[in-house]
Amino acid sequence: MQTRRTVLVQSALIAGTFLLPGCAKAREPDGGVRAGLYNCEGCEAVDERDPARLGSTTQIAGPDEPGPRLLVTGRVTTPDGTTPAAGVIIYAHHTNIDGLYANGDDESEWSRRNGRLRGWVKTDADGRYSFLTIKPSPYPDMTIPAHVHLMIGEKGKRRYYVDDVVFAGEFGVTEDYRRNQELRGGSGIVTLRDNGNGVLVAERDIILERHRA
Ligand SMILES: [Fe+2]
Repeated sequence: MQTRRTVLVQSALIAGTFLLPGCAKAREPDGGVRAGLYNCEGCEAVDERDPARLGSTTQIAGPDEPGPRLLVTGRVTTPDGTTPAAGVIIYAHHTNIDGLYANGDDESEWSRRNGRLRGWVKTDADGRYSFLTIKPSPYPDMTIPAHVHLMIGEKGKRRYYVDDVVFAGEFGVTEDYRRNQELRGGSGIVTLRDNGNGVLVAERDIILERHRA
C-alpha cells in the first residue's frame, strides 16, 4: 500500500521536480520544536534576493501568463499564533497551467528546477504578505493536488518550508490529505473566493514554527 510520502516521491520523480522532505509530524517534547524542521531541499532559494529590497507584495505571473488569476495572501504570526511577524521572507513557487515547473532560467539551481513562476516577499509591520500570480495545475500525472510551495526565512534562523497551499474541494484535497497534513505553519488548505474582479483569493495565514534557542 502506498503512503502519501511514497506517492509524493514517485510523482516528484515522474514530474522531474523536487520533493520537500521531512514528513515528520511530531513535535519534540522539549521546547515544542518540530522534528526534521530544517529538512528542506531548495530552501537556499529563500536567500536569492536581498531582503532590503523586498516588499510585502509581489507579482509572480503577469497578465500574459495563462491561467486563472490568483492572489495568495495572508498574515504571518509568531508561534503564539497572534503576534504579527514582521520582516519574514517568504519564497513561493508553483507549476504553470500545464502542471509544469517550466521556463526556468540559469540564475541558480533553483531558478532552473522551480521554473519561472516564483517570487519573494517580506512581511510588513502587520505580518501581511501577498503574491499575485496564476492558479497552478496539478502535475500532469495527476498524483497530488495543485499546490503552491512556501518557504520561510526568519532573520537569523535556519530556513524551512510550511505546508503547501492547496485548494479545498479540488482534485486531490481529500479527507486523507486533510488527515495527513503536516500542519507546518498551520494548514495549507484554503477555500478560494472570487474577489469580483476576476481574481481568486487564497488566504494562507502562517504561524511560524518554533526554533531551538
Ligand atoms: Fe511541487
